[in-house]
Amino acid sequence: MTVDAREIIHAVSVIATKRGGHELADAQIAWMVDGYTRGEVAPEQMSALLMAIYLRGMNRREIASWTHAMIDSGRRMDLSGLQRDGRPLATVDKHSTGGVGDKITLPLTPLVASFGVAVPQLSGRGLGHTGGTLDKLESIPGWRAEVSTSDMLDQLERVGAVICAAGADLAPADRKLYALRDVTGTVESIPLLASSIMSKKIAEGTGALVLDVKTGSGAFLPDEDDARELASTMVELGHDAGVDTRAVITDMGTPLGLAIGNAVEVAESVEVLAGGGPADVVELTLALAREMLDAAGLVDADPATHLADGRAMDTWRAMIAAQGGDPDAPLPTARHHDTVTASGDGIVTEMDARAVGDAAWRLGGGRSKPGEAVAAEAGVTIHAKPGDRVRAGQPLFTLHTQDEDRIPGARSCLAGATTVGPDSAEHAGGARTRPLIIDRVRFPS
Ligand code: URA
Repeated sequence: MTVDAREIIHAVSVIATKRGGHELADAQIAWMVDGYTRGEVAPEQMSALLMAIYLRGMNRREIASWTHAMIDSGRRMDLSGLQRDGRPLATVDKHSTGGVGDKITLPLTPLVASFGVAVPQLSGRGLGHTGGTLDKLESIPGWRAEVSTSDMLDQLERVGAVICAAGADLAPADRKLYALRDVTGTVESIPLLASSIMSKKIAEGTGALVLDVKTGSGAFLPDEDDARELASTMVELGHDAGVDTRAVITDMGTPLGLAIGNAVEVAESVEVLAGGGPADVVELTLALAREMLDAAGLVDADPATHLADGRAMDTWRAMIAAQGGDPDAPLPTARHHDTVTASGDGIVTEMDARAVGDAAWRLGGGRSKPGEAVAAEAGVTIHAKPGDRVRAGQPLFTLHTQDEDRIPGARSCLAGATTVGPDSAEHAGGARTRPLIIDRVRFPS
């Protein structure tokens, strides 16, 4: 069904169109998104439309139209004039669809910038079981997430790396819609996820974009086919908007690294920047760095060299200091700790990312509604991952919290989080049940 632009559009007819499984016209989409952003379409009407989209889906034309309506709700940034030493700077950004222990932005941004590329990383805060990059970085004493546009551009030219909050005028429709989706059970929809992520990235003005699309229990879309569909939708949206966009599909069935929370994830990221850190965090950081450098035209660059020789660490220190942070200050530590131990001998065969993310959230690391404070000190550290041998009584997790009353809830999340099976060659030696990097998606997808 198409709508004549001269027809009078009203919210109930738009909702009914999608409820009936029909296509929305561009004019209907633009009218609803604009009306909701300006407060003229009521939240209950937009909620009904979101649920209809969740249940009925949208085709690629509708998704592109919805994305552009969200971009048009605010300002588009222009990064094309960035220069260093009189030469234009290539810009490349990365976005993850969110996961447990996903601190990759922290080492990746300075690592890529240390090659002379500008990395404008406009990041978000955590909601639910997935952590937020800004919440993690705020555990560094003095560090500020709010940066004005002129300071951001200046930092990109001087340091090359910025991780900061998106300004209120960047895709404001998404900000309102995301908050509504979160309380109406409509987050996990491919059209709504793809348009939310890509509206912000296109409005930000990056020249190239690498998407880390997660699949597995800790991801918004646990099913791999859904992750592939999300990846190809976003790659196409980016390509159509003139942004060189590629996606990597990665496993989020197991938490990334050994630290889940805020300050504990910053500490683990600094280990990676110092040339150490858990193997999976290093592997994903390097894989995404290679994609980003390739997209920026540096096809032969080897990011591992800048982790080994300290250049990535130098850029990290400069990036943190430029936003008021003290890279040498001790990170906050929790007042209370507790340990979860293995109940029997064997090999860890599985660790449920979602359960570990929920435990960190319950310890105070995340928020249940926008605007709530999070505890920098809260989190979970993991002592045995899939493939590790454990004995009864050996620690599996350490819980960190400022509030002792939060410990029982976190322990109950972790009760079934780890499967310990009989000792067997199949599971021994740190092997993941599936590879961390599952596939790459490029245009045409
Ligand atoms: N991140 C976003 O920016 N939007 C979503 O909808 C989910 C994760």
